[in-house]
Amino acid sequence: MNPVSFEPKQMDHVQIGERRFVKLLSSEKIQARITELATAIREDYSDKDPLFIVVLNGAFMFAADLIRACELDCEIQFIRLASYEGTTSSGVVQQIIGMQIPVAGRHVIVVEDIVDTGRTMDAFTRDIQESHPASISVVTLLLKPETLEYPFESAYVGFEIPDAFVIGYGLDLDGRARHLEDIYQLEDEEQA
Ligand code: IMP
Repeated sequence: MNPVSFEPKQMDHVQIGERRFVKLLSSEKIQARITELATAIREDYSDKDPLFIVVLNGAFMFAADLIRACELDCEIQFIRLASYEGTTSSGVVQQIIGMQIPVAGRHVIVVEDIVDTGRTMDAFTRDIQESHPASISVVTLLLKPETLEYPFESAYVGFEIPDAFVIGYGLDLDGRARHLEDIYQLEDEEQA
Protein backbone atom coordinates (compact mmCIF):
# COMPACT_ATOMS: atom_id res chain seq x y z
CA MET A 1 0.00 0.00 0.00
CA ASN A 2 1.28 3.45 -0.91
CA PRO A 3 1.84 6.08 1.76
CA VAL A 4 -0.77 8.79 2.13
CA SER A 5 -0.03 11.58 -0.33
CA PHE A 6 -1.19 15.18 -0.26
CA GLU A 7 -1.35 17.78 -2.95
CA PRO A 8 1.00 20.59 -1.88
CA LYS A 9 -0.86 23.25 0.14
CA GLN A 10 -4.13 21.57 -0.80
CA MET A 11 -5.46 19.37 1.96
CA ASP A 12 -9.00 19.01 0.63
CA HIS A 13 -8.30 15.45 -0.36
CA VAL A 14 -5.87 12.61 0.28
CA GLN A 15 -4.95 9.69 -1.91
CA ILE A 16 -4.21 6.20 -0.58
CA GLY A 17 -3.20 3.90 -3.41
CA GLU A 18 -6.06 3.99 -5.91
CA ARG A 19 -8.53 5.48 -3.45
CA ARG A 20 -9.30 9.16 -3.21
CA PHE A 21 -10.77 10.68 -0.05
CA VAL A 22 -12.34 14.13 0.26
CA LYS A 23 -12.49 16.22 3.40
CA LEU A 24 -15.62 15.70 5.47
CA LEU A 25 -14.80 17.34 8.82
CA SER A 26 -12.08 19.90 9.47
CA SER A 27 -9.91 19.82 12.54
CA GLU A 28 -11.54 23.05 13.74
CA LYS A 29 -15.00 21.54 13.50
CA ILE A 30 -13.89 18.37 15.28
CA GLN A 31 -12.24 20.28 18.12
CA ALA A 32 -15.24 22.58 18.56
CA ARG A 33 -17.56 19.59 18.84
CA ILE A 34 -15.22 17.88 21.31
CA THR A 35 -15.40 20.96 23.52
CA GLU A 36 -19.21 20.66 23.51
CA LEU A 37 -19.12 16.93 24.28
CA ALA A 38 -16.59 17.46 27.07
CA THR A 39 -18.73 20.19 28.63
CA ALA A 40 -21.78 17.90 28.63
CA ILE A 41 -19.79 15.00 30.11
CA ARG A 42 -18.24 17.24 32.78
CA GLU A 43 -21.68 18.44 33.86
CA ASP A 44 -23.05 14.88 34.00
CA TYR A 45 -20.07 13.24 35.75
CA SER A 46 -18.53 15.95 37.96
CA ASP A 47 -19.17 13.97 41.17
CA LYS A 48 -18.94 10.45 39.72
CA ASP A 49 -15.20 9.64 39.29
CA PRO A 50 -15.89 8.01 35.91
CA LEU A 51 -13.94 5.16 34.37
CA PHE A 52 -13.25 5.92 30.70
CA ILE A 53 -12.79 2.79 28.61
CA VAL A 54 -11.01 3.75 25.41
CA VAL A 55 -11.49 1.40 22.46
CA LEU A 56 -8.20 1.02 20.58
CA ASN A 57 -6.95 1.64 18.03
CA GLY A 58 -9.23 4.13 16.32
CA ALA A 59 -10.33 6.16 19.36
CA PHE A 60 -6.83 7.01 20.62
CA MET A 61 -6.73 10.56 19.24
CA PHE A 62 -10.34 11.41 20.05
CA ALA A 63 -9.95 10.03 23.57
CA ALA A 64 -6.77 12.05 24.21
CA ASP A 65 -8.48 15.30 23.23
CA LEU A 66 -11.86 14.53 24.80
CA ILE A 67 -10.65 13.27 28.17
CA ARG A 68 -8.25 16.19 28.60
CA ALA A 69 -11.06 18.60 27.75
CA CYS A 70 -13.38 16.96 30.29
CA GLU A 71 -11.09 18.04 33.16
CA LEU A 72 -12.56 15.39 35.44
CA ASP A 73 -11.05 13.21 38.14
CA CYS A 74 -11.22 9.87 36.37
CA GLU A 75 -9.53 6.59 35.54
CA ILE A 76 -8.66 5.51 32.01
CA GLN A 77 -8.54 1.95 30.73
CA PHE A 78 -7.58 0.94 27.19
CA ILE A 79 -9.05 -2.10 25.51
CA ARG A 80 -8.86 -3.63 22.08
CA LEU A 81 -11.80 -5.45 20.54
CA ALA A 82 -11.99 -7.80 17.58
CA SER A 83 -15.24 -8.84 15.96
CA TYR A 84 -15.81 -12.22 14.47
CA GLU A 85 -18.84 -13.30 12.49
CA GLY A 86 -20.10 -16.41 14.22
CA THR A 87 -22.67 -18.81 12.95
CA THR A 88 -25.31 -16.59 14.52
CA SER A 89 -26.15 -13.11 13.29
CA SER A 90 -25.25 -11.54 16.64
CA GLY A 91 -21.53 -12.21 16.09
CA VAL A 92 -18.89 -12.30 18.82
CA VAL A 93 -16.76 -9.43 20.07
CA GLN A 94 -13.57 -10.58 21.71
CA GLN A 95 -11.29 -8.49 23.95
CA ILE A 96 -7.73 -8.67 22.61
CA ILE A 97 -6.37 -6.27 25.21
CA GLY A 98 -8.81 -6.82 28.04
CA MET A 99 -10.14 -5.00 31.06
CA GLN A 100 -7.83 -4.70 34.04
CA ILE A 101 -9.79 -2.28 36.23
CA PRO A 102 -12.90 -3.71 37.94
CA VAL A 103 -16.05 -2.01 36.66
CA ALA A 104 -18.45 -3.10 39.41
CA GLY A 105 -20.06 -0.02 40.91
CA ARG A 106 -18.21 2.33 38.50
CA HIS A 107 -19.68 4.95 36.20
CA VAL A 108 -18.32 3.72 32.87
CA ILE A 109 -17.93 5.89 29.76
CA VAL A 110 -16.88 3.92 26.68
CA VAL A 111 -14.97 6.08 24.17
CA GLU A 112 -15.38 4.91 20.57
CA ASP A 113 -14.30 6.41 17.25
CA ILE A 114 -17.22 5.36 15.08
CA VAL A 115 -20.43 3.36 15.35
CA ASP A 116 -21.28 1.74 12.03
CA THR A 117 -23.60 -1.27 12.36
CA GLY A 118 -23.49 -0.87 16.15
CA ARG A 119 -22.55 -4.50 16.65
CA THR A 120 -19.28 -3.80 18.47
CA MET A 121 -20.83 -1.39 20.98
CA ASP A 122 -23.94 -3.51 21.47
CA ALA A 123 -21.86 -6.59 22.29
CA PHE A 124 -19.30 -4.75 24.41
CA THR A 125 -21.80 -2.78 26.52
CA ARG A 126 -23.77 -5.97 27.18
CA ASP A 127 -20.51 -7.64 28.21
CA ILE A 128 -19.66 -4.77 30.60
CA GLN A 129 -23.22 -4.78 31.97
CA GLU A 130 -22.59 -8.29 33.34
CA SER A 131 -19.92 -6.84 35.67
CA HIS A 132 -22.54 -4.56 37.27
CA PRO A 133 -21.28 -1.02 36.67
CA ALA A 134 -23.20 1.79 38.40
CA SER A 135 -23.90 3.17 34.91
CA ILE A 136 -22.65 2.84 31.38
CA SER A 137 -22.70 5.26 28.48
CA VAL A 138 -20.93 5.50 25.15
CA VAL A 139 -19.36 8.58 23.63
CA THR A 140 -18.66 8.20 19.94
CA LEU A 141 -17.15 10.80 17.67
CA LEU A 142 -18.99 9.50 14.61
CA LEU A 143 -22.23 7.64 13.96
CA LYS A 144 -23.52 6.33 10.64
CA PRO A 145 -27.31 6.21 11.21
CA GLU A 146 -27.99 4.66 7.79
CA THR A 147 -25.95 1.52 8.51
CA LEU A 148 -27.09 0.96 12.11
CA GLU A 149 -28.38 -2.59 12.63
CA TYR A 150 -28.18 -2.86 16.42
CA PRO A 151 -29.83 -0.69 19.07
CA PHE A 152 -27.71 2.35 19.83
CA GLU A 153 -28.70 5.35 21.93
CA SER A 154 -26.31 7.92 23.31
CA ALA A 155 -26.44 11.48 24.50
CA TYR A 156 -22.84 11.88 23.37
CA VAL A 157 -22.54 11.64 19.59
CA GLY A 158 -20.09 13.95 17.87
CA PHE A 159 -21.34 13.84 14.29
CA GLU A 160 -23.86 11.82 12.34
CA ILE A 161 -22.27 11.12 8.96
CA PRO A 162 -23.37 9.51 5.67
CA ASP A 163 -22.65 5.90 4.82
CA ALA A 164 -19.13 6.21 3.38
CA PHE A 165 -15.79 4.89 4.60
CA VAL A 166 -13.91 7.56 6.56
CA ILE A 167 -10.28 8.01 7.56
CA GLY A 168 -8.19 10.40 9.62
CA TYR A 169 -8.14 11.58 13.23
CA GLY A 170 -7.44 8.04 14.45
CA LEU A 171 -9.46 6.21 11.80
CA ASP A 172 -7.44 4.16 9.36
CA LEU A 173 -7.39 2.31 6.10
CA ASP A 174 -5.11 -0.68 6.65
CA GLY A 175 -3.13 1.23 9.27
CA ARG A 176 -2.76 4.37 7.13
CA ALA A 177 -4.12 7.89 7.73
CA ARG A 178 -4.61 7.71 11.50
CA HIS A 179 -2.32 10.71 12.00
CA LEU A 180 -4.39 13.16 9.93
CA GLU A 181 -6.03 15.93 11.96
CA ASP A 182 -9.05 16.21 9.64
CA ILE A 183 -11.53 13.47 8.68
CA TYR A 184 -11.93 12.43 5.04
CA GLN A 185 -14.54 10.27 3.34
CA LEU A 186 -14.09 7.92 0.41
CA GLU A 187 -15.04 9.77 -2.73
CA ASP A 188 -18.03 8.50 -4.61
CA GLU A 189 -16.56 6.83 -7.73
CA GLU A 190 -19.17 8.62 -9.84
CA GLN A 191 -17.99 12.03 -8.64
CA ALA A 192 -14.32 11.25 -9.28
P1 IMP B 1 -19.57 -1.64 14.05
O1 IMP B 1 -19.37 -2.80 14.98
O2 IMP B 1 -20.14 -2.10 12.70
O3 IMP B 1 -20.38 -0.52 14.63
O4 IMP B 1 -18.14 -1.10 13.65
C1 IMP B 1 -17.36 -0.40 14.52
C2 IMP B 1 -15.90 -0.45 14.13
O5 IMP B 1 -15.72 -0.61 12.69
C3 IMP B 1 -15.22 0.87 14.45
O6 IMP B 1 -14.71 0.86 15.77
C4 IMP B 1 -14.13 0.95 13.42
O7 IMP B 1 -12.98 0.27 13.88
C5 IMP B 1 -14.67 0.22 12.22
N1 IMP B 1 -15.23 1.13 11.22
C6 IMP B 1 -16.54 1.24 10.87
N2 IMP B 1 -16.71 2.17 9.91
C7 IMP B 1 -15.47 2.69 9.66
C8 IMP B 1 -14.99 3.71 8.76
O8 IMP B 1 -15.73 4.36 7.98
N3 IMP B 1 -13.66 3.96 8.81
C9 IMP B 1 -12.79 3.31 9.63
N4 IMP B 1 -13.21 2.34 10.48
C10 IMP B 1 -14.53 2.03 10.49
